Amino acid sequence: MNARPQALDDVAAILRNARHVVVFTGAGVSAESGIPTFRDALTGLWERFDVAQLASAEGFAADPDLVWGWYEWRRMSVMRAQPNAAHRAIAALASKVPKLTLVTQNVDDLHERAGSEGVLHLHGSLFAPRCFDCCRPAPLASNLPDEPEGGRQVPPPRCEHCGGPLRPGVVWFGEMLPEDVLAHAFDAARTCDVLLCVGTSSVVFPAAQIPVDAHRAGAKVIQINPNATDLDAIADFNVRAPAAIALPAIVETAFR
Ligand code: APR
Repeated sequence: MNARPQALDDVAAILRNARHVVVFTGAGVSAESGIPTFRDALTGLWERFDVAQLASAEGFAADPDLVWGWYEWRRMSVMRAQPNAAHRAIAALASKVPKLTLVTQNVDDLHERAGSEGVLHLHGSLFAPRCFDCCRPAPLASNLPDEPEGGRQVPPPRCEHCGGPLRPGVVWFGEMLPEDVLAHAFDAARTCDVLLCVGTSSVVFPAAQIPVDAHRAGAKVIQINPNATDLDAIADFNVRAPAAIALPAIVETAFR
């Protein structure tokens, strides 16, 4: 791991003495489970697919079958994936510190499948469809979709209340984040003493404001990311390593 042994010990000591830890995650925490990130060169979803066409209400209205099919492909990929050592280390950490708040931008359920509870999903979930017209939540099909790479045209199921098309329960560009979840996340960021920022490019707001507010409130910010991001300048530690390598090592060092 590309972190000076001293840095690892320093990060571990901060975690060991923490009163309230916020763990803030992005797509990078699921990368080692085989789930593509959004902006990594070549492999990132937004490098391969049209974000406006697939992640906006306008895109859905224009071609609901294309959008529904694409999210069924993503749901399939997540259902076939397994939580990795980073997800498991975060779940384990919750029992080792007095208080932990897990805030994620991810729409997968890998944190929950690793054993984390009360996960704050800022950008919604692939497993919470609702009606595009009446907004009522809809039951989720339990089947494992069988979709080709990149998805295909799949007509969305219809709402049993109003007959409208169902849409994925994710937050699309131009849409508001769930107010209560966002308020809870900001409150945690402004009152924690340690924030672990794992696998996010920190470019999408308001989510990216969370580590900034934690820093301004005096918390230690520890970034785990193999690549540089806009957060480098304010982070107290930049651990340049994959999450599934760095997080288990840090938790193991802190609580052995
Ligand atoms: N471990 C840790 N970090 C990693 C790993 C890894 N194994 N692999 C890649 N990363 C880092 C990349 O260096 C990058 O900084 O994860 C980050 C992923 O960034 P994005 O693809 O931009 O994903 P994210 O920050 O979660 O995107 C935020 O944008 O598209 C929207 O709603 C979507 O929630 C998403 C939001």
